[in-house]
Amino acid sequence: MDFEVADMSLAELGRQRIAWADANMPVLTSIRERFLKEKPLEGMVIAACLHITTETANLLRTLKAGGASVYAAASNPLSTQDDVAASLVKHEGIPVFAIRAEDQETYYRHLDELLDRHPNITMDDGCDLVSRLHSKRPEQLKEMVAGTEETTTGVIRLRAMEKDSALGYPVVAVNDADTKHMFDNRYGTGQSTLDGIIRATNVLLAGKTVVVAGYGYCGKGVSSRASGMGSNVIVTEIDPTRALEASMDGFRVMPMSEAASQGDIFITVTGNRDVLTREHFVKMKDGAILANSGHFDVEIDLKALRELAPGEASRKVRPLVDEYLVTNAAGENNRVMVVAEGRLVNLGAAEGHPAAVMDMSFANQALCAEWLVSQVGHLENRVYQVPVEIDKDVARLKLATMGVKVDVLTAAQEEYLASWTVGT
Ligand code: ADE
Repeated sequence: MDFEVADMSLAELGRQRIAWADANMPVLTSIRERFLKEKPLEGMVIAACLHITTETANLLRTLKAGGASVYAAASNPLSTQDDVAASLVKHEGIPVFAIRAEDQETYYRHLDELLDRHPNITMDDGCDLVSRLHSKRPEQLKEMVAGTEETTTGVIRLRAMEKDSALGYPVVAVNDADTKHMFDNRYGTGQSTLDGIIRATNVLLAGKTVVVAGYGYCGKGVSSRASGMGSNVIVTEIDPTRALEASMDGFRVMPMSEAASQGDIFITVTGNRDVLTREHFVKMKDGAILANSGHFDVEIDLKALRELAPGEASRKVRPLVDEYLVTNAAGENNRVMVVAEGRLVNLGAAEGHPAAVMDMSFANQALCAEWLVSQVGHLENRVYQVPVEIDKDVARLKLATMGVKVDVLTAAQEEYLASWTVGT
């Protein structure tokens, strides 16, 4: 079997950690048990470009149990857990091409390794694999059956492809399922982002001013968790409705140009580029901490920061923290700290979202793969929403595993909801 991982001697540790995560993924486990019997993915070749974590390992095991041939590569150069990659190869027989901290060239070579296996399903996190397939291997598009996409960023890219009539096969926007973004993006990103910042810096959040850029589900999660830890939260937004929501949720809202001098910790979760730039760096307090939890490392303008702090004015001060000495308008040299090179801090400096929340995201992934196979020949080359039955099933299954019971509509209530004649 061809594969490329950092260190096969880590496999046993990986196996233990994968089992630990699995114990917190009961919905995915139940799907795996059914897949093992029914083999709904027989004949499929799945190329999975995902963060190589313990949770992803359990998804890949599920897809394989469903009868698919599965190949995996990292969806971010810094998110791979090398022990997990080794265990997937050794214990699960899944070829993995991923090494933590791989360079850009290796990252794309690994995506090409997946495409060399002639997949007919892509499972992407950020749309890099889909984009590479369309731009470098258009001749392989005719082999494709379908795809799924995990993230907000990836869905935005896919919609742009659809708008340009460039999308070569149907893709389900798993991110858009309620049981994905309302939980993974909010509670997952909320917790794991702070986890990454704390592990990297050991900073005390209580009493600090935390500036959160972006108030989508990820920003809401980060803001509420930081607030819960005793931070004063400032939100920056470009969308008026979200800014209003942040304001009514009790947070101060202002432009980044004003927040820059007030924040102790800055967290970007916008999905856009140039959120923290030269203009902001020169206004920051001494010791300001900068972290990004958006998908790509474009939110903090590191190039500008390197120009402001050339040569010896920057150095590594902890394993995952780089310090830049930036001269402000008063001529003072202030330390600006960047965590995890401005890459996804929750996966670069911590373990990503906890298994209990990835359980729902990856249950959606597995069930959408099954649905896509059942729909072969009936779908167009566009971006599809997760079927509502799948979304509700995942919610029901998760509630059941949590021991939470809910009410059901009575016949009279159902009739009432279906009628338009009953009024005051
Ligand atoms: N994205 C965020 N957290 C993750 C995790 N634990 N595994 C895979 N993808 C993730």
